Amino acid sequence: MASNPKYLIVIALLVLVFSCKDKEPIKQLVTIENDSTYYTEDYRPQFHFTPERNWMNDPNGLVYHQGVYHLFYQYYPDDIVWGPMHWGHAVSSDMLHWEHKPIALYPDENGFIFSGSAVVDANNTTGFGTANNPALVTIFTYHDMEGEQAGKTDFQTQGIAYSLDNGDSWTKYKDNPVIGNTEVRDFRDPKVFWNEKEELWTMLLAAGDHLQIWNSTNLKEWEQVSEFGKNQGAHGGVWECPDMFPLQVDGTGETKWVLLISINPGAPNGGNGTQYFIGDFDGKTFASDQAENRWLDFGRDNYAGVTYNNTPNKERICIGWMSNWDYARETPTEKWRSASTVPRTLSLSKINGLYELLNYPLKNFDKLVDIGAKAEDIIVKPNETNIMSLATENQSEIRFKTAARDFVLSFKNDSTDSLAIALDGKNKMITFDRRNSGLTDFAANFATTVQKMPIDNLPEGEVEIRILLDASSIELFIHQGQYVMTNQLFPRDAYTTLEILNTSNVELQVKGFRESAVAGIWKN
Ligand code: FRU
Repeated sequence: MASNPKYLIVIALLVLVFSCKDKEPIKQLVTIENDSTYYTEDYRPQFHFTPERNWMNDPNGLVYHQGVYHLFYQYYPDDIVWGPMHWGHAVSSDMLHWEHKPIALYPDENGFIFSGSAVVDANNTTGFGTANNPALVTIFTYHDMEGEQAGKTDFQTQGIAYSLDNGDSWTKYKDNPVIGNTEVRDFRDPKVFWNEKEELWTMLLAAGDHLQIWNSTNLKEWEQVSEFGKNQGAHGGVWECPDMFPLQVDGTGETKWVLLISINPGAPNGGNGTQYFIGDFDGKTFASDQAENRWLDFGRDNYAGVTYNNTPNKERICIGWMSNWDYARETPTEKWRSASTVPRTLSLSKINGLYELLNYPLKNFDKLVDIGAKAEDIIVKPNETNIMSLATENQSEIRFKTAARDFVLSFKNDSTDSLAIALDGKNKMITFDRRNSGLTDFAANFATTVQKMPIDNLPEGEVEIRILLDASSIELFIHQGQYVMTNQLFPRDAYTTLEILNTSNVELQVKGFRESAVAGIWKN
């Protein structure tokens, strides 16, 4: 806490200015520098992105341009529950530290601004920019609330907007929407990328129970060229937030295309989740012979994840929304609601003959981690428990390697909260139990069941277990992101002990165990 009374007051000013271009007010929260209470509320993540205040859901318009990583997001600036959607905006040069920017896109006469993407129009195909100053173009869904309430089915359309000053100000295209609706009720979340094969723009659109692929030469006129998925993949809920990109299979010259589709509900542990397909894209059509459903993350709180366009070296970086529509509106925070996952690098590996999509924190993330922390080897006898104290107040990375497959990690605090992650080698399963992890009764379905993650393709031998704990979230990465669980938690106090219970009848060897503090990204 600050000793200087000058800094004790949270000073947030609502600044209203008017943009002459869009004729829409730009609201900006200005927080006084050096306010030591900034970002210190209970459950406020310290190294994850959260809006300064009010409601956030999906990441939108992830694009890199002129040294800047943009993060737009579904934002309702007037409340901590979902409402008329805007695009909030933040920027970063390192994907670790974020600077809040004014709201980028406001609802207009066509509707609320739902999820979408952004591209750099390098060849000036739109004519919005110049060869020397290409436009940044956002492509988003308009949601006409009145149309929906009137029982229409054509209330979602696609629009575009552009910026000539790297995202600081935005102009909506005068002939919006660029894609009208053809009576598909759920018709949204355009992901646009430059299609190198056809030398044009490709848009992925979620259309109820399937994906539509559209092509365009100028981002204004679009033609549907194919569809995918009516009879493939999981269909427990509506398809949302598609993304698709090529990845080279690690250690080979082979390239496969990966399609991400978020689905709500229908995820393996309830509510929303993100499935993926591995296949091929010929410039118009995506095809996959994948028979089983595959999931990017088995936790309950990683949704609507999409990847950056235009990154240096074509690195595939994904950010998801760390919540679940099952209870997103009820989580126990007051000033803001929801966080994003840490940026994760996506890669493709062939493990035991099967293609696997790995998602693992960006290499750069290591810069926040105190690597000076002591690493130790621990041996736990059969059916015994090793108890360790935790020193990092739920702002940490915990990492070790082990060849064992039968143990339970329990995080505990003085308030008798307990979070249990169990590996079960015989059943090739990880279970994640947050039923007693802290506050859970704010929503009926936050923690009623134990989550399960099958690990049937985990290779034999030593694998890394890596955990990121940040105030109200935990991200668990097994074997470099082959198996991942992301979950929210609301412990009544920080976890102060970690118990490792050996559930096998052989010695458990934990190698290089390290608990490291992770630096906060918001401190002034
Ligand atoms: C996914 C989603 C999108 C939609 C947005 C609305 O979480 O439902 O399909 O565009 O949120 O906020």
